[in-house]
Amino acid sequence: MKRFDGQTVFVTGGNKGIGHGIATRFAAEGARVAIAAIDSDTPQVASRLAGETGAEVIGLQLDVTDAAAVAAAYDEVEARLGAISVSVQNAGVITIAKIEDLTEREWDLNLDVNTKGVFLCCREAILRFRANGIKGRLVNTASGQARQGFIYTPHYAASKFGVVGLTQSLAKEVAGEGITVNAICPGIIHTEMWDYNDRVWGKMLGNYGPGELMDEWVRGIPMRRAGTPAEVGALVAFLASDDAAYITGQTINVDGGLIMS
Ligand SMILES: NC(=O)c1ccc[n+]([C@@H]2O[C@H](COP(=O)([O-])OP(=O)(O)OC[C@H]3O[C@@H](n4cnc5c(N)ncnc54)[C@H](O)[C@@H]3O)[C@@H](O)[C@H]2O)c1
Repeated sequence: MKRFDGQTVFVTGGNKGIGHGIATRFAAEGARVAIAAIDSDTPQVASRLAGETGAEVIGLQLDVTDAAAVAAAYDEVEARLGAISVSVQNAGVITIAKIEDLTEREWDLNLDVNTKGVFLCCREAILRFRANGIKGRLVNTASGQARQGFIYTPHYAASKFGVVGLTQSLAKEVAGEGITVNAICPGIIHTEMWDYNDRVWGKMLGNYGPGELMDEWVRGIPMRRAGTPAEVGALVAFLASDDAAYITGQTINVDGGLIMS
């Protein structure tokens, strides 16, 4: 008997990076998994993950900022895999810019994907938990930048602080129904997003060569290494498990000790 046998888990941004680590963990632990992401390769990634794990995995191309598309995606997943009991709001974007160059478009993109996307998916999931009488689990991906804003990313930091506020408020609203809502704060996890950070922040902060900024920041982590998507997946699976039934409204760092608050 595996921990998530018979459960349907929905993971946004599940086709790569941290989200793929989360989806892989749930698939390995017996869940039926739906990954939804903006990238067109998402269905192919899902088929590959199904082949690797033996789990039922489906992939949907979805823009989490589109409310109607989000509702349709939850409908499709429930029709194909059964009632959802865990929804992981992980899709995210980052851009890096000095304030004089930071456009309204960039501001809106970060807030739309990282904060509004979490709201839309949480709302959809809660409506379905209620309709199906499920004490469901919501896990929202925030960031170390939900603890402290880093330089040249006020829009990203605002979007991630927003995730924490949204998580706490929702947790209070649905606690009486046995639904939990928690947030996670990854630190430095080597994904495509960090390749972008390394390149762009590196140039803006002092002409670092490829990988050099990441190496420098990793030296500042007490555990002296970057984290992996699998390590984030382990935390998310814990928060979605029976062992975490009495944990709600919390924001938990998974960062090797980078931030201790
Ligand atoms: N990598 C890190 O060090 C780090 C640290 C802290 C927080 N995070 C957060 O973790 C999450 C995953 O980041 P990652 O590093 O795996 O990044 P990534 O760039 O590897 O993956 C981002 C994912 O988000 C999806 N996505 C982007 N815009 C979308 C949209 N509009 N609709 C649906 N899906 C969309 C992409 O398809 C992709 O699956 C993000 O929320 C990010 O902010 C990452």
